[in-house]
Amino acid sequence: MNKKIQNIAVMTSGGDSPGMNAAIRAVVRSCVFYNCTSVGIYRGYQGLIEGDFIHLDARSVKNIINKGGTFLKSARSKEFETKEGRQKAYDNLKNGNIDAMVVIGGDGTFTGANVFYQEYNFPIIGIPGTIDNDISGTDYTIGYDTALNTVVEAIDKIRDTANSHNRLFLVEVMGRNAGDIALNAGIGAGAEEILIPEEDLGKERLIKSLAKSKQSGKTSSIVVVSEGDQIGKNILELADYIRENLDAYEVKVTVLGHLQRGGSPSCYDRVLASRLGVKAVEALLEGKKDLMIGVQSNKIAEVPFKEAISGENELDLELLRIADIISI
Ligand code: F6P
Repeated sequence: MNKKIQNIAVMTSGGDSPGMNAAIRAVVRSCVFYNCTSVGIYRGYQGLIEGDFIHLDARSVKNIINKGGTFLKSARSKEFETKEGRQKAYDNLKNGNIDAMVVIGGDGTFTGANVFYQEYNFPIIGIPGTIDNDISGTDYTIGYDTALNTVVEAIDKIRDTANSHNRLFLVEVMGRNAGDIALNAGIGAGAEEILIPEEDLGKERLIKSLAKSKQSGKTSSIVVVSEGDQIGKNILELADYIRENLDAYEVKVTVLGHLQRGGSPSCYDRVLASRLGVKAVEALLEGKKDLMIGVQSNKIAEVPFKEAISGENELDLELLRIADIISI
């Protein structure tokens, strides 16, 4: 183990996700285990620039494994995108005697970490935390499983009322440019149609398919729409298009929004966060840097930041075929 690293900082950055607290807890307790000290940085890179730090010990992270959000708070820092902002960040790390840093977040967080490493050669390890599951080199990101369960629970409720009134509901889910939440929650909730950015099947096909399922005896329908889907300008315009071209149902729209980011993390997310947190500290102590700790086929993987942010995150489109067959 590399003895030079004695004081490790941890932060959460970008959109929060359930399980971030569990990851912070694992990082802090691993530091204690390996006789290092740890520092929490509030509000991600913005707090780093402002020197908003707190000393953390094993008891500072008690009773948080079950809590949604992040007690260190999160932010998207515009200032860190500037050279001056990064210089302030580096000065604060040096003044705080911080030797290395664990950043928990998504692609924006890792892009910042990679730039910072290139400029200052400062050891940073990333942990993927985002509900979007849009990071390359890891099968899962912390928070994704919880978000899926939240979405499925919400759609189950929508289905009750949709069915009582013979209505069609368009349900918009998050994911930015990735369809992972829509596709998996859509299958899990038994949606009739799933619209994702990775596959544009066209508005005409949607109308034909909805008409066909209505003729086959369906009395209500759920269409899950990923927020990044390109089929309509937005979900309200898509609803209007369906109203104009299909008179089989009364059409309603529900945008699930930020409720998908909250809530107590699932057991899967807590375990994932704990595994990645421990490995992140161990990787730093072994002298590793400029990489993300992810999970591939349930094994821990070390993925260079460059690869993690490459955008080459393959969605399993076979799931669309499955969805098509079972929504008949
Ligand atoms: O990246 C997580 C995410 O929730 C996306 O799914 C969504 O597009 C975005 O963040 C929303 O960002 P904000 O909370 O800044 O509105």
